[in-house]
Amino acid sequence: MEYVRLGTTGIKIAPIILGTMQMGWRVEEEESFKIMDRALELGINCFDTADVYSYWADNSYPGKTEEIIGRWLKDRETRTDLILATKLRGVMSDDINDRGLSRRHVHQAIAASLKRLQTDWVDLYQIHSFDDDTSIEETLHALNLLVDKGVVNYLGASNIHPWMLVESFWISEKNGYARFETVQPPYSIVRRMLVEHQMYHVIKKYGLGVIPYSPLAGGFLTDRYSRDGALPDTPRSEGAQKRYFSEKRWKIHETVKEIADSKEVKMTQVALAWIIAKDFITAPIIGANSVEQLEENVGALEVKLDEDEIKRLDEVSDWVQDYETLR
Ligand SMILES: NC(=O)c1ccc[n+]([C@@H]2O[C@H](COP(=O)([O-])OP(=O)(O)OC[C@H]3O[C@@H](n4cnc5c(N)ncnc54)[C@H](OP(=O)(O)O)[C@@H]3O)[C@@H](O)[C@H]2O)c1
Repeated sequence: MEYVRLGTTGIKIAPIILGTMQMGWRVEEEESFKIMDRALELGINCFDTADVYSYWADNSYPGKTEEIIGRWLKDRETRTDLILATKLRGVMSDDINDRGLSRRHVHQAIAASLKRLQTDWVDLYQIHSFDDDTSIEETLHALNLLVDKGVVNYLGASNIHPWMLVESFWISEKNGYARFETVQPPYSIVRRMLVEHQMYHVIKKYGLGVIPYSPLAGGFLTDRYSRDGALPDTPRSEGAQKRYFSEKRWKIHETVKEIADSKEVKMTQVALAWIIAKDFITAPIIGANSVEQLEENVGALEVKLDEDEIKRLDEVSDWVQDYETLR
């Protein structure tokens, strides 16, 4: 495994991160343990989670996923082998203050995450999104205290506008606070513009680590989906239909499939290899519902796309021609 530097930080991670959003509702605890065991065995040393996972499922609640990871960490005694990333900001309970990015909630959230995760520290603490009701100064001041105390090593931001990120850097610099070192946006071959339009320039200028989520577009970039076929039997298929079913995306889907077939590899592996080949990407965060899916996805690290294949994929998924931009 060739480890990569996480932005300008001093830590190295594998070029694929294990996402855990499926644990606690799609994937029960026993299988979750197997997935995490196998990921570590394969050399994946960074796991991503969030305090709110997995609030949306009838059989789950906010904090359940972190609790599963916590029991696994305790059982396997593997905390020091792992770069652990979690997030805060989501709605944790009916308490109106048990959410957001206020100073009060930052302190409440980290204490609760550490307890659920059964650890003394989080390596990467990310805001899950911005909070319109709290100034970024207040949030950064509170987050910086956590870094000073050593309970958090680095800060990251997910689902944030590029201008907010730049503003946050100015505030961090002015006050001598730790800054956001990573961004976690959605990014895949069928969802490029959000990152490549403006965020790309911020990433390059500030040397950020980029750890995108939904690199397989929530499963759309697999052969379970086809233009004429029925929707696959998964809770994510309606979301995929709404977001991705369009003429342009089907052309991308078909090109990924053609290239995968010609190389005798899986579509998932081509879609991931395309992302990993981008020079501004540190490591995509993969979702896997089983050890088999995990192994297949990590197998993308062995798939090398040649220049022509990358050119074909870049061209079929190009978005610049459809929008007016400064690029
Ligand atoms: N910051 C945020 O707001 C945010 C948002 C979303 C996710 N995330 C993070 O990113 C991680 C990954 O996100 P994601 O789950 O959307 O990623 P994804 O890789 O785009 O989608 C994962 C889904 O793809 C399907 N899949 C994965 N591997 C497969 C394989 N080998 N063969 C067939 N199908 C396969 C499964 O779909 P089915 O479930 O349909 O089987 C799986 O649930 C999450 O676990 C979480 O840590 C962060």
